[in-house]
Amino acid sequence: MDRAKETAIKAARSAGQLILQKMGDKKIDHKGTFNNLVTDVDKAAEAIILEILKKEFPGDEILAEESGASGNKGTNRRWLVDPIDGTTNFAHSYPFFCVSIALEEAGELQMGVVLNPVADELFWAQAGGGAWLNDKQIKVSKINKLDMSLLSTGFSSNSSNMERFNHLTNITHGVRRDGSAALDLCFIACGRTEGYWELRIAAWDVGAGILIIQEAGGQVTDMDGNRLNLTAGRFNIVASNGLIHKQLITSLADLQPTRTN
Ligand code: IPD
Ligand code: CA
Repeated sequence: MDRAKETAIKAARSAGQLILQKMGDKKIDHKGTFNNLVTDVDKAAEAIILEILKKEFPGDEILAEESGASGNKGTNRRWLVDPIDGTTNFAHSYPFFCVSIALEEAGELQMGVVLNPVADELFWAQAGGGAWLNDKQIKVSKINKLDMSLLSTGFSSNSSNMERFNHLTNITHGVRRDGSAALDLCFIACGRTEGYWELRIAAWDVGAGILIIQEAGGQVTDMDGNRLNLTAGRFNIVASNGLIHKQLITSLADLQPTRTN
């Protein structure tokens, strides 16, 4: 697994370098709707990552945000690649985005890497090996009350989240909407926030962050507290430091999503 981790870090850093270079020089396009953005840099960064992964692990399957599924479908090893998580931020040069790369084996997350190239923060984890921010081990916070917690959420396209955002804002220290699900998860892992939820998220956005939270002592489930199914195209997610998980699920359940898939 060390080889997978080293390869993922190399790929994330190569992509991160390009992303920083191109911050002031990108071409913005839309995927379908006017607010679902993609840039030429998302595509170029993804090409760099895929080239490195495919060279090192030609037998693996890959699911990447911009190019979809590729590689060997007959294997139980699948990479989840998001070249820029926080594309809308990147498109506006709002400096909060990251590269996210995870590896699953037989449906279990084994390794995750999330690189924020602006802050030079590399979050990473291997199953059973703890979670790390650069060279320091990280842990979730010890806050055990929802009303003492800082949360985050996201508004993926076609999800209706305003009611939950409003409700949770009123009963916590606040709810941030920073625009990068992968970084939202990593912020829980290192104790900056306590919880996060989102409707209709995709596996490439959260694969790495899920393992990083779990290895930092936190918890990630669906809205009912059950194990997530990362093979579902889109799914609802709740993540936390573990201590506020039930309280968060209960508060969200008061406002059950009208659309879950
Ligand atoms: C998005 C970000 C955002 C979340 C959206 C995602 P993208 O990913 O993670 O925080 O709310 O659901 O689609 O499009 O920037 O890669
Ligand atoms: Ca993305």
